[in-house]
Amino acid sequence: MIFINEGHYPSFHLTNGKLSYIFHVLESTQTLEQLYYGAAIKPRDNYDYLIEREVRPSNNLYQDTHTTSFEHIKQEFPVYGTTDFRYPAIEIAYPDGDHISHLSYVGYTQLSGKHASNLQPMLRAGEEDAATLIIHLKDNYSQAAIDLHYTIYREQAVIVRRVVVHNHGEESLRLKRLLSMSIDFPHDDFELLHLYGAWARETHLERKPLIKGVQNFSSTRGASSHAHNPFLALVAPNTSEHQGETFGFSLVYSGNFLSQIEVDTYHVTRVSMGINPFQFDWHLDTGESFESPEVVMAYSSKGLNGMSQQFHDIYRQQLLHNETPFEKAPVLLNSWEANYFDFDEEKLLEQAQLAKDLGFDLFVLDDGWFGKRDSDNGSLGNWTTDLDKIPQGIRSLASNIQAMGIHFGLWFEPEMLSVDTPVYQAHPEWIIGHPNKNISHGRNQFVLDFSNPDVVANIFEQMSQILGSAEIDYIKWDMNRYISEPFSNFLKKHQQGELFHRYILGVYDLLDRIRKAFPAVFIETCAGGGGRYDPAMLFYANQNWISDDTDAIERLKIQYGASMVYPISTMGSHVSEIPNHQVGRITSLKMRKDVALFGTFGYELDIMKLSDADREEVRQQINQFNQYQSLLHHGDFYRLNNPFEAGLTAWMVVSKDQSEAIVGVYQSQASANPAYERIQLAGLASDQAYELLELDHESKDIPVRYGDDLMAIGLILNENFTGRADEYWGREKAGEYHSRVFYLKIKKDK
Ligand code: GLA
Repeated sequence: MIFINEGHYPSFHLTNGKLSYIFHVLESTQTLEQLYYGAAIKPRDNYDYLIEREVRPSNNLYQDTHTTSFEHIKQEFPVYGTTDFRYPAIEIAYPDGDHISHLSYVGYTQLSGKHASNLQPMLRAGEEDAATLIIHLKDNYSQAAIDLHYTIYREQAVIVRRVVVHNHGEESLRLKRLLSMSIDFPHDDFELLHLYGAWARETHLERKPLIKGVQNFSSTRGASSHAHNPFLALVAPNTSEHQGETFGFSLVYSGNFLSQIEVDTYHVTRVSMGINPFQFDWHLDTGESFESPEVVMAYSSKGLNGMSQQFHDIYRQQLLHNETPFEKAPVLLNSWEANYFDFDEEKLLEQAQLAKDLGFDLFVLDDGWFGKRDSDNGSLGNWTTDLDKIPQGIRSLASNIQAMGIHFGLWFEPEMLSVDTPVYQAHPEWIIGHPNKNISHGRNQFVLDFSNPDVVANIFEQMSQILGSAEIDYIKWDMNRYISEPFSNFLKKHQQGELFHRYILGVYDLLDRIRKAFPAVFIETCAGGGGRYDPAMLFYANQNWISDDTDAIERLKIQYGASMVYPISTMGSHVSEIPNHQVGRITSLKMRKDVALFGTFGYELDIMKLSDADREEVRQQINQFNQYQSLLHHGDFYRLNNPFEAGLTAWMVVSKDQSEAIVGVYQSQASANPAYERIQLAGLASDQAYELLELDHESKDIPVRYGDDLMAIGLILNENFTGRADEYWGREKAGEYHSRVFYLKIKKDK
């Protein structure tokens, strides 16, 4: 998969038949030039034919040359302080106070699989699955060594990049900027696609043409954030869900990040991604190394669905934690919207018993079980059971619930501290903020300084006490405010620019310790919904609560956008109360189920208040999810109709062997006397006949349609009233907020 043309100035070609990525060492400067990234091409023994050198007005590196300006050479890993005036991937501050670097090629190493990091999350890569190329660069002006890591996977059109910097010198250096990757495309004939949002409306999709100059999305909030997801894609202008060239970039990081696109005046497009350089200042002392997080680059020549499927496959296979106490994805009942802070043991036991009777796998006790937490005013950081609410303690509650034959899970917000807690009384200096300056609260809480290992150790002890004392199979790991006044009482003066990154490393450390101590515990990460829905959190987690907005209609956009990068098996999605607690909308139990079905599937409502008929419907819905769970979570997901553009949303999942599929169609707006409505399906076997079953719908006969027909003509949503005029006038209108789910299976010859 890695083809190298040796020599003084070698070239490197990473290819797996699905993509090609080529760069080489420049003869005159010993730096790296990016030559090509795109559809797979055959390896050649020389790539000089890809070199383009115009003579342009420029600053040149060497006397008497007109073609040694880095401004006019597509860079593989651009540095600051040379002839490239665009934004670099690395900026080093030297002891003299200058920031001038020149990185030269030294050599390379190849290996099967990849080196793991013990500091931060990264994709796995078995020796059979992937190959890694490490390019060794040296800094001409210090003893720093820079290693560029490229891992190419056999099965997916994916390359993963990261960078490691080692300081072998006597003097300490400061990293002012270290991005995980940078790439220069030779043109700007792209549109930019990204995900933005806010609390309760995460992962909304925006697609815009590129502009000349710099565009970026970033976080300065201490978490990857609701505002921007650490993902972007460049797409050829004619790209649709099903066709066109697409380059996706997804950063495996949960802290402050930067995704940047810079188009220069020659139409070259530079994409770079990594830790946000804003407020970043890392001291690299003698003998120390610094590792960047990974960027996952997915290539598709088959449109946006092709790109998303690469991300979904690689994240399901090489990222997500797969060990769990459940035989299949658990259907959970979460107590939050039913109880908020108002519950006692008796109420919980009643709810859990009914949940068991209705077929749930897991009962999750959300916020409010610890300290004295009757509102969101206090108690975070005091992880001891509130005996007023749960007199027998968590251990007894958990074992009573487990004895019913249903699993038990618990909510934590490990990174936060309230002032009414013993930890704050003993260690007010453990919160992030300057002792003599204002420290803002968010939801009446403060952020613990996770750059301090004592803080992480304290929270680990408290959590282990609870997790070790009771049968707890699930944790909801929440985080509900951002870092606004970054200052650590623990870090030294010169290390304050390291706080954001050290904070997130502390979070990873705690997650890692919990994972090692309780390997099978099922973790759902959350940050006020989707405030930290990123691949790094998914490395430790089994799923993520992607939004506090549980309204079925709003969720269409949120889940549709999130599916650009994240597998639906990770998308925490619940059937919740009506009127909906975020928007007040009323949708049917069926519609709420039909939307949640294309996610992890769970409930967040007071089941005690449901009528007998609704309880029976919930029981059937759970059965239905269980029946299709494997298809939904392991198949290929296709977006069909975009809720950001139309009132009709549609998506589907096709099993890897194409023998079955499930399609969701959602109508958000009712309209009179509608036009013809058809949904062209995707991913089916053209020559196979599929039986078409509409779920929750009684029908006398099961239509059979061929795959090619369903993909070319589509599902026909209008009815055929030939000879049924009477029925037409008496029919019930579907109304607003209406959904249909179809199941397709290859018809077996009898
Ligand atoms: C956050 C979460 C919710 C719920 C509450 C509890 O908002 O996103 O799901 O757990 O906290 O306080």
